Amino acid sequence: MKYNNPKVEEVYNQLEKDILELGSTQLGSKYLGKNGLIKNLLQTISQQQPEDRKEYGREINELKKYFEERVLQLKDKVTSDTLSSRIDPSAPFDINTPISKRPKVGTTQGTSHPLMQEMEKVLKIFQNMGFEIVESKQLDDDYHMFESLNIPKGHPARDIWDTFWTHDNLIPPAHTSTMQNRAMKTRKPPIRVVVPGRCYRNEATDASHEHTFYQIEGVYVDKNISMGDMLGTIKTYLESFFETELDIKVQPAYFPFVEPGCEFMISCPFCKKTGCNVCGYNGWMEIMGCGMIHPNVLTEAGIDPKEYSGFAWGFGLDRLVMLKHSIGDLRRFHSGDLNFLKQF
Ligand code: PHE
Repeated sequence: MKYNNPKVEEVYNQLEKDILELGSTQLGSKYLGKNGLIKNLLQTISQQQPEDRKEYGREINELKKYFEERVLQLKDKVTSDTLSSRIDPSAPFDINTPISKRPKVGTTQGTSHPLMQEMEKVLKIFQNMGFEIVESKQLDDDYHMFESLNIPKGHPARDIWDTFWTHDNLIPPAHTSTMQNRAMKTRKPPIRVVVPGRCYRNEATDASHEHTFYQIEGVYVDKNISMGDMLGTIKTYLESFFETELDIKVQPAYFPFVEPGCEFMISCPFCKKTGCNVCGYNGWMEIMGCGMIHPNVLTEAGIDPKEYSGFAWGFGLDRLVMLKHSIGDLRRFHSGDLNFLKQF
């Protein structure tokens, strides 16, 4: 028994039953509306013996407070019930979990993807070297993919980088070089920009080739920039990434947007050129394409090649991370295999 007065107790008992069945609006009118059960109780105070009124009135007020609290709880429950019907199948946790109880990134329940972990480290290295970061696009146009990179219509180099075109004449970029023109047009030398971005290739996949991967482009333009600056910059970065000293060499390669163009090679960071299965027992590894930015590309971006020179590079992040962590198959990165991912 909660209340001494049997009438108040009766209404209280009724309320406990009704709460299970009625909504907050119905309860409101049944208890506090015209002829409402609590309202009626209040009106009977004056009919009580004077000495009983105070205690009777106190009990009714207590019941009224209790009623209001319960109705409020009911409303909260309704809101959270409505919320719990929200479903986001892409979320790694139930989105109705209160924020404080959600698994934190970086705990055993979830971590950022190994590629993203390494991406952050790579960008940090370049930021420390004074580079700005600009993200590339996942759909780009003919001008940025080809034209601005000295690859006019009909140029044979278009074939290797053609993926597919959308109805609006856009293309998933095959490299992050698509951002070279933008990076240079919107800045004045000295220009130091790195461009992380997703790239797409018309590629048959195998252990070391994927159709989708990340590249990181670099663009450096200033007065009197030479190949020596390029080699030093890339070497400094790679030594920092692999956390070891490296020997480097370059061999000629063809990219229409650089002249000369090179393939950048490093001594194997694992065997120091003695030969191991990572480098295929030849002691060296090809890491990226690079070269001095072609005068046509500088001119197209509004930079006078007689006054300025610069270099650019582009490397696949996935390959570097694969090497760093001795991952045998590049395709594992995009497999969504938790046993693989949990190792990082
Ligand atoms: N974009 C080239 C590729 O994807 C790499 C590259 C970038 C080469 C910049 C030279 C200069 O293969």
